[in-house]
Amino acid sequence: MQYKILGKDLKVSSIGMGCMGISHAYGKPLTKKEGIYLIHKALDYGYNFFDTAEVYGPYINEEIVGEALKNHHGKVVIATKFGVKLEDGSTGMPIANAKSDIIRKSIEGSLKRLQVDCIDLYYQHRIDPKIAPEEVASLMADLIKEGKISHWGISQVDEIYLRRANAICPVTAIQNRYSMMARDYEKLFPVLEELNIGFVAFSPMANGFLSGKYDKNTKFTTDDYRSKMPQFKADNIDKNKDLINLLASIAEEKKATLAQISMAWMINKKPYIVPIPGTRKAERLQENAKTSEIKLSKQEVKYIDEVLAKINMSEIFLGTKHD
Ligand SMILES: NC(=O)c1ccc[n+]([C@@H]2O[C@H](COP(=O)([O-])OP(=O)(O)OC[C@H]3O[C@@H](n4cnc5c(N)ncnc54)[C@H](OP(=O)(O)O)[C@@H]3O)[C@@H](O)[C@H]2O)c1
Repeated sequence: MQYKILGKDLKVSSIGMGCMGISHAYGKPLTKKEGIYLIHKALDYGYNFFDTAEVYGPYINEEIVGEALKNHHGKVVIATKFGVKLEDGSTGMPIANAKSDIIRKSIEGSLKRLQVDCIDLYYQHRIDPKIAPEEVASLMADLIKEGKISHWGISQVDEIYLRRANAICPVTAIQNRYSMMARDYEKLFPVLEELNIGFVAFSPMANGFLSGKYDKNTKFTTDDYRSKMPQFKADNIDKNKDLINLLASIAEEKKATLAQISMAWMINKKPYIVPIPGTRKAERLQENAKTSEIKLSKQEVKYIDEVLAKINMSEIFLGTKHD
C-alpha cells in the first residue's frame, strides 16, 4: 500500500476503506462480527483510512468501526461525519442540520461509539443552507482546541462554501462524489491546490458499476440502493458499453482489473485524491488495495480523460452533478 497526505499532515493509505456498506444502503446489514472481520482484513492489506458516519445505520456503523479499530489507535485514521439525519430515521434522503447544539451532541455520541478521545477527520456531511459556513468552521476550531477532533472536512461542498469555511478554520479534505462517471468536481481542483486541501472521492467506482462485473441479469433487492441507480438499469448497460470497453482494454494492458483501473486513473491524476471504495467481500478489499501499486503516466491519464469527455454514458445515482 502507498500513502498520501491530505491537507498539511494527514497521512492516509492511498486507497481508503468506505465502511458505509457494512450496515447501510446495500440491503440487509452485515452482522457486527462480519463487519469487524472485514475491517481487520483491510488492516492486513495495508488500509489505514476508514470512513464512516453517524447516519450510517444510523450509529451501528460507527460502533462497528470503533470496536474493530480499538486496539489500533495511533496507527489508523478514522473519519466520520455529522450534520444530517435521514428523513425516515434509517433510509431515505439526508436532511442537513448544522446547528451548533446538534453538532455538539453528535460529536459526543461519535467519540463514544468510535471509542476514541479524538476524531482524526470530522466531516460536515451535507451543507445546511440555513447555517453559515463561518459558524460551522468556528465550531470546528473550538472542537480542535478542545482536543475532540484533529482535522475537519466537508462533504459535497462547492467552492464558495469551502473558501468561506477554510478562511475560519483550515479544511483538511473535502469528500465529494467522484468517479469516471461523475467528473463534475474536477472544477474544484484549482481551489484545492491553492488552499492545500485533499479530495476524498466517494462512490469512486460508481457504486461498483465500473468494475464491469454487473450486467443486464444482475438483480438487487429493493433495500439495496443500487436497485434505483440508472447505471445498473438494463438499457444503460448498453449505453455504458464503450466505457466498460475502455476500462477493459487498459486493464488488459496493465494486467489489472477494471475496478483497479477506474481508481488508478484518479490516484495517478492528482497526489491529493484518495478514493474510499466500499465492499463486503474480503477478496475485493485486497483487489482494491492493489490499485495503489498501479502506475499510469500523465499521458495515459490524459488519454483516458480525453476519451471520457467524448464517450457516451448514462446518468449515475442522482446524476453527475448532485448528491
Ligand atoms: N460523503 C457522502 O455523502 C458519501 C456518500 C456515499 C458513500 N460515501 C462513502 O464512500 C464509500 C464508498 O462509496 P459507495 O459504496 O457509495 O460506492 P463504491 O465504493 O463506488 O461502490 C461500492 C460497491 O462496489 C462494489 N465493489 C467494490 N469493490 C469491487 C470490486 N473490486 N469489484 C466489483 N465490485 C466491487 C461493492 O459490492 P460488494 O460489496 O458486493 O463487493 C459495493 O456494492 C462508502 O462506503 C462511504 O464510506 C460517502
